Amino acid sequence: MENLKHFLLALCAAAAAGFVSIIFVLRWVLYFKEGLAWDGGLAEFNWHPVLTVTGFIFLQGIAIIVYRLPWTWQCSKLMMKFIHAGLNLLAFVFAVIAMVAVFDFHNAANIPNMYSLHSWLGLTAVILYGLQLVLGVGMYLIPVTPVSWRAAFMPLHVYSGLLLFTSVIAVALMGITEKLIFGLKDPKYKDSPPEAIFVNVLGVLLVLFGGLILWIATRTSWKRPSDQILHSLHTNGGSEDNSNVASALSQLSDGSDAYGAGDARKRSNKSDEQVN
Ligand code: HEM
Ligand code: HEM
Repeated sequence: MENLKHFLLALCAAAAAGFVSIIFVLRWVLYFKEGLAWDGGLAEFNWHPVLTVTGFIFLQGIAIIVYRLPWTWQCSKLMMKFIHAGLNLLAFVFAVIAMVAVFDFHNAANIPNMYSLHSWLGLTAVILYGLQLVLGVGMYLIPVTPVSWRAAFMPLHVYSGLLLFTSVIAVALMGITEKLIFGLKDPKYKDSPPEAIFVNVLGVLLVLFGGLILWIATRTSWKRPSDQILHSLHTNGGSEDNSNVASALSQLSDGSDAYGAGDARKRSNKSDEQVN
């Protein structure tokens, strides 16, 4: 891998920002707020920020960069797909429970549902994330999907995945701000009490985590090696000698796209597997 040190630095920084965010959200609800319970009250609401930060943000972020970890490159692509899909599924389960907690709290306290921009964008993100999961499984885990469909869908899968991840962080920042404005009465948010400063820092950490994950996920030189080779062949090939590229591609795979396109074909040896 090019720049392994840079990769490790970005990874450690992302992991640190993610872990500290989880500690911050737990300290917020356990120390500054009412704690955690499932009783229709504010302690039930508190599951909402805890589960969205831990699951929908942290786990989703890890799921996105899991293919990039160099020590997983000797694992089969299929196994990595299961890990990627499994972590995304877990993130989705956390998000759904977080939604149940806030709707249940609102209904018990007679607070209207779905009035804020936060709630509109938040619920949309959860629904689209569910759709992304279903399409991801349909396209890349079920072996009958045609290779050409897999290849054609991959840029959209990556784009919508990164867009969803970014949107979820923006939605969390809105939720945090709303909660601080609603919850801080005396002293108010504008008077900058310790809770406000503490939770503002949580927001900054979430942006930092998001920025680092996006950085890692968008470096071409940090992709799994087989994908990297195919990527450079694709990008170099447009200009001069397409026949060389085509033959190199056919040696590496069955001539289809870099992104898991070779999955449908039978794997006969190790080098075959590397390009899946
Ligand atoms: C309410 C989604 C994160 C604070 C809601 C509602 C949804 C939602 C759909 C509407 C519930 C209803 O109408 O009954 C999300 C999503 C998040 C997220 C997808 C993912 C990041 C957060 C975070 C906080 C937060 C981190 C911080 C405390 C709130 C508050 C409400 C709420 C205060 C009640 C007011 C309102 O409906 O806007 N959220 N939320 N949310 N959320 Fe979030
Ligand atoms: C790659 C997001 C679900 C299969 C990616 C990437 C993102 C992403 C951002 C680009 C990663 C990179 O370039 O290193 C998501 C999100 C999902 C989801 C947010 C859930 C909501 C799934 C599922 C599958 C899947 C269920 C089924 C196996 C893949 C494959 C790649 C990929 C095969 C290509 C990896 C590579 O070769 O670089 N996904 N994904 N995804 N995803 Fe997903």
